[in-house]
Amino acid sequence: MKITVTKQPKAKPDSSKLGFGKFYTDHMLVMEYERGKWGEPEIVPYAPFSIAPATNVLHYGQGIFEGAKAYKRADGSITVFRIDDNFKRMNNSARRMCMPQFEAEPVKRALFELIKLEEDWIPTGEGQALYIRPTMVADEEVLGVHASKRYKFFILLSPVGFYYANGMQPTKILVEEEYVRASIGGTGEAKCMGNYAASLIGAEKAEAAGYDQCLWLDASERKYVEEVGSMNIFFVIDKEIVTPALVGSILPGITRNSCLQVLKKYGFKDYTVSERRVSMDEIVAAYESGKLKESFGSGTAAVISPVGVIGYKGRDMLIGGGKMGEVTEYLYNTVTAIQRGMKPDDFGWVEKVK
Ligand code: COI
Repeated sequence: MKITVTKQPKAKPDSSKLGFGKFYTDHMLVMEYERGKWGEPEIVPYAPFSIAPATNVLHYGQGIFEGAKAYKRADGSITVFRIDDNFKRMNNSARRMCMPQFEAEPVKRALFELIKLEEDWIPTGEGQALYIRPTMVADEEVLGVHASKRYKFFILLSPVGFYYANGMQPTKILVEEEYVRASIGGTGEAKCMGNYAASLIGAEKAEAAGYDQCLWLDASERKYVEEVGSMNIFFVIDKEIVTPALVGSILPGITRNSCLQVLKKYGFKDYTVSERRVSMDEIVAAYESGKLKESFGSGTAAVISPVGVIGYKGRDMLIGGGKMGEVTEYLYNTVTAIQRGMKPDDFGWVEKVK
C-alpha cells in the first residue's frame, strides 16, 4: 500500500479539551472508484480535497458515512469495536444510495495501517477514543440527476471525548411533532448524509427551546418513537427494556444492537428486553403512572447517554429524578468495559489492530 507521510505533523490537542469531531489526525485513507472499479487504498496527509463545483455530491447529496472507534489499552495494544459491522452497514447504505459496493477486508487492513501510523493520537481518558469516520461520496462532475460513475472513499480519524458537552450528565430531549426525519421506504435506515441534513431543523428547534437534541416520531402518524438522530433510543418501562423496532425508517445502530445482545446474553435482573413500536401515548401513560423508570440513547459517538428529560406537548417529563438509572449505568459500564478490554468479549466484537 502506498503511504505518504506528512512533512508537517500537527501539534496534538489538549486531551481535556477534545469534545467531539474538532480535531483530525495527520493522515487519512483515500480510495477512488472509476471505470467500474475501486483503486487501491492509499494513506496520504490529511488535507483539503480539490473538488469541482459541479461534482454531484455537492448538488444531490449522494454520500454515506459510518462512525466507529479505536481504543488504546494500558499495555499499548490497540483495538477496534465491531468494525466489520460498520463496513457491512456501509455497503447496505451504498446499495440504497446506488453507490458501488466495496470489499471490506482490504479497506480494513489499510485502516489498521492508518491507525498504527496515528497511534499517538489515540486518547485514553474516560469517554475518549479515536473516532473513525469512513465516508463515500459521488465524485463525478455532472449535473444530470443519476448515480455518479466516480466515487471517492475516505477515512478520517479524530480524537474524541464525550459527544455531549455535559459528558454523562443526563440529556434533555424534545419530541419533534412538526417535522419528520424519515419515512418507511425512504432513506432512514441508510447512513446517508441527507438524513442528517434533514434532522438539523429538529435539533435547532430543540436547542433554541433549551434541550440538547430532538426525538423523532414516525412520519405517517407522528405517534411512534423512532430515534434521536445522533443516537437510537431506549426506555425502561416498569420491568421492560424497550427500543423501537427497526421498521425501515430507523438507523440500525451498532451500539443499539450491542445493548440488546448484552442484555440478552447476561440478562439484567428480572427485566424483559423488547424491540417493538413504542408510542408517545405509552410513554406519557408510563410517566404518569410512575412506570417510566429510565431512558437512554445509544450510538458510537454518544456511547450510552442517559436521558433525564423528555419534553412533549409543552410539558417536561423528568425521568429517574434526572439521574442516570441502573439499567443505563449497567449498559454503559458493560459495553465500555468490553470495548476497552476490561471485560472479556464473549461476542467477537473486539479486533486487535496491534
Ligand atoms: C455516530 O455515532 O458515529 C454517528 O455517526 C452519529 C453522529 C455523530 C452523526
